[in-house]
Amino acid sequence: MYALPAELRHALTEELEFHREHDLAASAAELTARYHRPIDRPALRSATDVAAYAAVRMPATFAAVRFALAQAAVVAPGFGPRTHLDVGGGTGAAVWAAADCWPGLGEVTVLERDRAAAGLGRALAARSAHPAVRQAAWRQADLAKDITTEPADLVTVSYVLGELPEAARLPLIRRLAGRAGMLAVVEPGSPDGFARVLAVRDLLVELGMNIAAPCPHDGACPLAAGDWCHFAARLPRESLHRRLKAGSLGFEDEKFSYVVATSAPVTPPGARVLRHPRTRKGLVTLTLCGDGVSDQNVSKRDGELYRVARDTAWGDAWPPV
Ligand SMILES: C[S@@+](CC[C@H](N)C(=O)[O-])C[C@H]1O[C@@H](n2cnc3c(N)ncnc32)[C@H](O)[C@@H]1O
Repeated sequence: MYALPAELRHALTEELEFHREHDLAASAAELTARYHRPIDRPALRSATDVAAYAAVRMPATFAAVRFALAQAAVVAPGFGPRTHLDVGGGTGAAVWAAADCWPGLGEVTVLERDRAAAGLGRALAARSAHPAVRQAAWRQADLAKDITTEPADLVTVSYVLGELPEAARLPLIRRLAGRAGMLAVVEPGSPDGFARVLAVRDLLVELGMNIAAPCPHDGACPLAAGDWCHFAARLPRESLHRRLKAGSLGFEDEKFSYVVATSAPVTPPGARVLRHPRTRKGLVTLTLCGDGVSDQNVSKRDGELYRVARDTAWGDAWPPV
């Protein structure tokens, strides 16, 4: 379960009090509808939209980015970023996720076009216990145009590519890749989101970067045409979040596709678990992506490996690193 840091939860509660719950609920419903259609104009169109985004989407995008960074950290254990550039940062989910994963971060820059999103992001970040999050520099930038950025140890682009004109997506990644020690791109877990991630992955390999996660190699993706890969991060739903989503469950599973690449070599795992492991009495079946995609049965007779397999989850490296 990837829960928002406590200071962020408290900061969100305070910021959301400036809005009427009825308006937030209407904006949250409208945002869900907008995100289910191809986005041809900004999805965030008012301060209420931005607040609704922070209430119902930011916990989920935080969880997805945190999950992706955790998997990358496993295969790049020596990576300890000092500088972080968050591109299309919105209300700052990836800033909080990166600082949670790598507390040694010292300098954070966020690029964002929307003033209301940056304003709320800055107000939330001001309540962080982490100095680099509190002091993050929020810069206004249009990613569809040429942007100039300083090199950064870590660059995140989370839930952004799908909002950019198609012709602007890969040129942006190309510009960022040459200036990133690690580049993490996260997109919604849908066939379209996966297609964007796969195109990014192909480009990063062509540019000579090393794939850290989720793929255990830099070779061609072994999934059959029409198949796609995604992962899920579980997050708690606070009471306002539950009411705005008109849901009764105390948690939700955020589905996402992602790729993380590094400029320095990594030690990839043998394989990645591509689906929920299936468990029967004395047997765990793992669907693995390695040289190809295949199922591996691990039975009680395998002793320690069986105990490890029972604790292994969808999205984990296999065997555990
Ligand atoms: C779905 S939100 C994601 C926000 C954040 N990265 C996250 O993971 O929660 C997409 C963000 O991209 C920003 N965005 C969209 N197009 C942009 C552009 N051309 N230039 C800069 N930011 C843009 C939007 O304003 C919005 O904040």
